[in-house]
Amino acid sequence: MGLPVILLRIFLLLAITMVPISDAWGKEGHFMVCKIAENYFSDRTSTAVSELLPADAGGDLASVCSWADEVRFRYRWSSPLHYINTPGVCNYKYSRDCHNAKGEKDMCVVGAINNYTTQLQSYGGDSSGYDLSESLLFLAHFVGDVHQPLHVGFQVDEGGNTIIVHWYRRKTNLHHVWDVNMIETAMKDFYNNDLNSMIEAIQMNITETWAGEIHQWETCRGRSVTCADKFASESIQLACDYAYQDVEEDSTLEDDYFYSRLPVLEKRIAQAGVRLATILNRIFYDSSASGNLNDLLLKSVVEIIEANTISAK
Ligand SMILES: *[C@@H]1O[C@H](CO)[C@@H](O)[C@H](O)[C@H]1NC(C)=O
Ligand SMILES: *[C@@H]1O[C@H](CO)[C@@H](O)[C@H](O)[C@H]1NC(C)=O
Ligand SMILES: [Zn+2]
Repeated sequence: MGLPVILLRIFLLLAITMVPISDAWGKEGHFMVCKIAENYFSDRTSTAVSELLPADAGGDLASVCSWADEVRFRYRWSSPLHYINTPGVCNYKYSRDCHNAKGEKDMCVVGAINNYTTQLQSYGGDSSGYDLSESLLFLAHFVGDVHQPLHVGFQVDEGGNTIIVHWYRRKTNLHHVWDVNMIETAMKDFYNNDLNSMIEAIQMNITETWAGEIHQWETCRGRSVTCADKFASESIQLACDYAYQDVEEDSTLEDDYFYSRLPVLEKRIAQAGVRLATILNRIFYDSSASGNLNDLLLKSVVEIIEANTISAK
């Protein structure tokens, strides 16, 4: 075996280990979700989050919002926690769909959101034996993932990962279009390649266009602290109505697709941010109230937005 062959082998090996198995909103998507959430943290949440953040986060949750993607290979068991597959239907059922490939129950993104929420509820109490810093980083990431419509997609095409398409002239897959390509193109075309401008535009809509919907974003039927089942149901519906709609293997997706889908994606980022704040505010309120949500003392994000608006005037 000559040197070139060895080099080729090394190269292939590196290529295999480095292939981004695209199963997660790109860094930008997660960063935006966490940045938006930070605006609506209660004081208790801000304090708890800064205590739990690892030192290398520099006090900013957004900077470590993609940590869960970085440990997918080190923590192999965590890989199925980034998504849910349905058996080719446009609805989601926890009992049917929330499991990993081995059929272990709860091993999906909704199960993970509930799991890490429960772990964080022990914050400030007796040590639960869990690493709550990791619980926080997982939770912040998975609330983002469950809002990306194709993270609740069809089993057969792995949430669009096996559907090869062209994004304008570039070859990619449908899942990656929603994780990364649409955000990149939006940044380039509308936001001067500045992530902060995109975040500001989304936030503007939270306080104006969508203000009347936020109460509905924060709540769900049943007494679930996280409402994660509802987020997953919305995602598969949006996957069917927008992401998969009019797309086939080898489709070329360009302006028509981009302009009609981008508003959906931006609203999902907004919802993920608001809901992450809501969940954390409930968790860190909850921990001091022996498990009972006290609606009178627990501020909703709607009230936090109102208070921020008044103090900004
Ligand atoms: C819950 O969290 C623990 C600790 O990270 C992990 O071992 C377990 O697999 C998680 N289960 C789910 C459903 O997320
Ligand atoms: C803001 O809302 C308007 C009106 O619904 C919509 O056209 C626009 O795409 C939204 N922009 C962002 C950044 O969400
Ligand atoms: Zn992910």
